[in-house]
Amino acid sequence: GKVAVLYGGRSAEREVSLRSGAAVLAGLERAGVDAHGIDTRDYPLARLKDEGFERAFIVVHGRGGEDGTLQGALEHLGMPYTGSRVLGSALAMDKIRTKQVWQAMGLPTADFRVVHKQDFNPGDAAVLLAQFQGPVFVKPSHEGSSIGMTKATDAATLADAIQEAFKFDDEVLLESFIEGDEYTVSILGERALPAIRLRTPHDFYDYSAKYQSGDTQYLCPCGLDEEGEQELGALSLAAFKAVAASGWGRVDLMRDKQGQWWLLEVNTVPGMTETSLVPKAAKVAGLSFDQLVVRVLEMAY
Ligand code: DAL
Ligand code: MG
Repeated sequence: GKVAVLYGGRSAEREVSLRSGAAVLAGLERAGVDAHGIDTRDYPLARLKDEGFERAFIVVHGRGGEDGTLQGALEHLGMPYTGSRVLGSALAMDKIRTKQVWQAMGLPTADFRVVHKQDFNPGDAAVLLAQFQGPVFVKPSHEGSSIGMTKATDAATLADAIQEAFKFDDEVLLESFIEGDEYTVSILGERALPAIRLRTPHDFYDYSAKYQSGDTQYLCPCGLDEEGEQELGALSLAAFKAVAASGWGRVDLMRDKQGQWWLLEVNTVPGMTETSLVPKAAKVAGLSFDQLVVRVLEMAY
């Protein structure tokens, strides 16, 4: 039957989603699926039924797409869709509550504090900074693609970083900066795909490193031995399930100089351009881009 590829939306990651959506649509079409692209920004979802759609492939990133709201609307319509359900989507979109769940379950995630827009004043930055050992990573709690994120090393840059993050969110996460390498593990069904190690000349894997500069190296296989790869895969799968995520997605982590793992976040609608991370990992696992999108679609319910 007819498949709606839902992409675009209104979030700060709209541009990324337009690219992911175009790639997914092309992949499904090449695989012979009767797929149609729909920009959710301009489309009332109730029309999906009238237009004869039978399933939805969600490729909207960020708020309004990845955060449970779109999933809730589709539940309401009784329309099967790909990926995480309402709870997993909402929880994974919230970096603070994701970390609280991991902490409660004994899963490793860096030390953190929460700052709220209504009760922050820039004079608090020095006291906040003193609660950390070293640099602090400042993140809007509900953004993706590193939007609004800054690394702060002193009270003045921390105050500025928090103000910057408040442009995107009323709730901001201050996280102990982990010195080391960033890794990402793609999840497909019940399985962790080969991990990717990211090497960027930037201070961290920021928006420009992700989508613009082209100077990030992607190592897959990532260089861990078999035991290390298995341990990382198992940790990532546990972290994914802990936030009730399901179907497919991506878990981001850091490995510090001592080899210890630190969970960063879960993405329930990860980037899906042909050069994105999940397609790279799938390729190493022997799945082409087209096979990957068909597999994700097959799991829709
Ligand atoms: N938030 C972006 C799309 C990603 O995780 O790939
Ligand atoms: Mg993310």
